[in-house]
Amino acid sequence: MIRLASLLSLVPLLSPAVAAPQAPAWRFVEKGNSGIVGLESIVVSPTLAIFFDRATNDPLHTPDGKVAWGALWDMETNKATPLELISDSFCASGALLSNGTMVSVGGNIPAAEDFNQTGAVDGRMGLRLFEPCTNPAGTGCKIFEDLENLHLAETRWYTTSLRIFDGSLMIVGGIHEDTVFYNTDPVNSIEFFPKKDGGVPRPSAFLARTVPVNLFPRAFALPDGKVFILANNQSIIYDVETDTETILPDLPNGQRVSNPFDGTATMLPLSPPNFVPEILACGGSTKPDTTPVEELSSQDPATSQCARITLTPAGIAKGWQVEHMPQGRMMPEMILLPNGQVLITNGGLTGYAAVASIGVTSGNSNADHPVFTPILYTPSAAAGKRMTQEGLPTTNIPRMYHSTITLTPQGNLLLAGNNPNGNFTTLAPGEPGFSSELRVETLDPPFMQMVRPTMSNLPSKIAFNSKFTVSVTMPPGVSTSTMKVALMDLGFSSHAFHSSQRLVFMDAVLSKDKRSLTITSPPNNRVFPPGPGFIFLTVGETTSVGAHVMIGSGASPPVADQGVSL
Ligand SMILES: *[C@@H]1O[C@H](CO)[C@@H](O)[C@H](O)[C@H]1NC(C)=O
Ligand SMILES: *[C@@H]1O[C@H](CO)[C@@H](O)[C@H](O)[C@H]1NC(C)=O
Ligand SMILES: *[C@@H]1O[C@H](CO)[C@@H](O)[C@H](O)[C@H]1NC(C)=O
Ligand SMILES: *[C@@H]1O[C@H](CO)[C@@H](O)[C@H](O)[C@H]1NC(C)=O
Repeated sequence: MIRLASLLSLVPLLSPAVAAPQAPAWRFVEKGNSGIVGLESIVVSPTLAIFFDRATNDPLHTPDGKVAWGALWDMETNKATPLELISDSFCASGALLSNGTMVSVGGNIPAAEDFNQTGAVDGRMGLRLFEPCTNPAGTGCKIFEDLENLHLAETRWYTTSLRIFDGSLMIVGGIHEDTVFYNTDPVNSIEFFPKKDGGVPRPSAFLARTVPVNLFPRAFALPDGKVFILANNQSIIYDVETDTETILPDLPNGQRVSNPFDGTATMLPLSPPNFVPEILACGGSTKPDTTPVEELSSQDPATSQCARITLTPAGIAKGWQVEHMPQGRMMPEMILLPNGQVLITNGGLTGYAAVASIGVTSGNSNADHPVFTPILYTPSAAAGKRMTQEGLPTTNIPRMYHSTITLTPQGNLLLAGNNPNGNFTTLAPGEPGFSSELRVETLDPPFMQMVRPTMSNLPSKIAFNSKFTVSVTMPPGVSTSTMKVALMDLGFSSHAFHSSQRLVFMDAVLSKDKRSLTITSPPNNRVFPPGPGFIFLTVGETTSVGAHVMIGSGASPPVADQGVSL
């Protein structure tokens, strides 16, 4: 069924008011109002994303008249619908499990003065479940919380969660209580959902070594099932099965990338046959982590450094290789694109993360000078030639602290949030700092205005190490020699980090008549942790809409190894 919104979206194209057709180009497009600050975001179905915020004084209300701090965002109608939550999801993280359920993890103690309007309770042990939602508008889809019976073992604010090889979530670090700026009350442990080890958290020497700049550790499930973790300027490979860590080189030149010195990091796309993992870490600060809070300024320059490492014995021996963004960035975010490029966006030229907590602030903001133009990074290009801002558009909406971005199933990027204030705040013109932001935008790649390839007849569930055939149409006149098929986890965006974000390229053979494509799924559940994903087909400059699939058995975690080992 074609929904009304998609018909309406054609109207501007047909309207005589549009003088001349614009050439396909990257564009920012405003897309309505999120009702709550989109501080965290995750795509949960082909048409829906969830935004989470702090339980405080957002404009959106639930049907029973309480202030909302969660919302379903309909990407077809650009409308927010309140979600009813019990506990405060402020500065939580989250991910999808192997059975498709989304889990929001950890949170904060809500301010007492907000209780009458929100009714929110302490969310630091929160586990908020959103079961797979098949209604395109989200009707009847709800968040489930049962704090008494379903909760973390430790209180965790600013914790990272990611899906691992057995389809469960690994939950790393955090802070117990609200502290001024640095992590001075750290949760130096790892736990899992569903629980492992009888629910007893595992102490982490790595987290103990990386205080006080180790909030939201940048963690990645590697294709052998181990986990790479980067916090402050240090990195390790953590073996979940033996509970051991292998120390890797520090980031060079004093670069620090986890909260509150938020740079960002991503695992670059994995390709067959060897799926060699590479990590790219960009931005943040080179300030020593011993600098007293009073000496930090919102005007301190962020670093432009990116460091990249290949996680093979030779790559680790070579260490982090340095390159530079066109400008420094505090709180950038990196998004993998289906064609294998990386979009670096958001953040500011100066300062730090967090709210009103350092020597010199800009209003309530610890950061300043928003960067309005994204960067495209091409991993396969030669060093020094990988980054460009040419052809990328400029927005006028700052996306600093408490903002998000995610790739959507439509193939464009959804941006929301920005709120370096204690609650929902609208500043008077000329007042320093940044107002709370409700405007949603998309960043549309040029192919949104071009004829795109299509895929149909996909199986809804795909086993590891299997071949499956889909029907395709190719844009006319485009060479299919550059065809790429990407399996993606779109990840969970919180605090300049896109946890669980992943791109695995799959081998694909096009039929002679170019109408069907036979694709080989990833070899096993370590290359792509079992669970939901989107498959995108890129041909030349154009990418299809993503097809929503379940990779693996779809069983509840923990699931046994599937497929073949490499
Ligand atoms: C919350 O509501 C209670 C009961 O109506 C009232 O006594 C109290 O003053 C309210 N607190 C705030 C901060 O508004
Ligand atoms: C990383 O930071 C620590 C302090 O947190 C420092 O002792 C160490 O020298 C740094 N490493 C490098 C390579 O700069
Ligand atoms: C927002 O925060 C300010 C400063 O902490 C406080 O004075 C105000 O009451 C808060 N407003 C609401 C609606 O919670
Ligand atoms: C997925 O697994 C989790 C953890 O066991 C469970 O709470 C949830 O209900 C499951 N969802 C589905 C759809 O089976």
